[in-house]
Amino acid sequence: MLATKSLAPGRRVYGERLYSERGAEYRSWDPFRSKLSAAILKGLGVLPVAPGSRVLYLGAASGTTASHVSDIVGPKGAVYCVEFAPRSMRDLLNVAMARENMVPIMGDARQPGQYAEYIKGKVDIIYEDVADPSQAEIMLSNARMFLKAGGSALMAVKAQSIDVSRRPSEVYEEAIGRLSAAFEVRQRLGLEPFDRHHLFLHLSFKG
Ligand SMILES: C[S@@+](CC[C@H](N)C(=O)[O-])C[C@H]1O[C@@H](n2cnc3c(N)ncnc32)[C@H](O)[C@@H]1O
Repeated sequence: MLATKSLAPGRRVYGERLYSERGAEYRSWDPFRSKLSAAILKGLGVLPVAPGSRVLYLGAASGTTASHVSDIVGPKGAVYCVEFAPRSMRDLLNVAMARENMVPIMGDARQPGQYAEYIKGKVDIIYEDVADPSQAEIMLSNARMFLKAGGSALMAVKAQSIDVSRRPSEVYEEAIGRLSAAFEVRQRLGLEPFDRHHLFLHLSFKG
């Protein structure tokens, strides 16, 4: 089991268990609820998210995974959380109220120009989990605008959202082909048994 050291002790985000250890509080990180936790347990070789990282998070939903990313980057890092569903944004705002490093942004990840004014400078990492048919293009356009050269992208690709009529492996190859114009693929991971519907990618931005 994974856990992150909580930046907001005493608060749960999605009903996770809290543990105290040597004066610090830790939050269990459920791989069935978070694809990043699943990817780590499935053998993600390098986790680019580190203390002090600046992360652009596309598709933050209610903040389940984004809150763990916020724990990891800590007070010197930042997590810019883009979400376009008002209901999710309401929950996300509650989570962000207790976390100074989280910046909730109501915006559409397909139009990065909409939220450029809220992101200061380049980010180290883009995390994308949006379940949109144009997932690859969303990553490319956000990377060109916000990601530093040599920065990392973590991405959960959902074949069913791109094209339900084709074999997932074909859809994944095509998405990777489009991304390879700007990214080097460092690792690709299936997330079974935690999640059966996504391919998880770790990419490095050529700049
Ligand atoms: C699978 S959920 C994300 C779960 C989240 N990453 C987590 O692990 O906690 C996908 C989210 O992406 C959001 N989304 C989809 N398309 C989007 C877009 N174009 N712009 C912003 N958010 C989008 C949806 O509203 C939804 O909340």
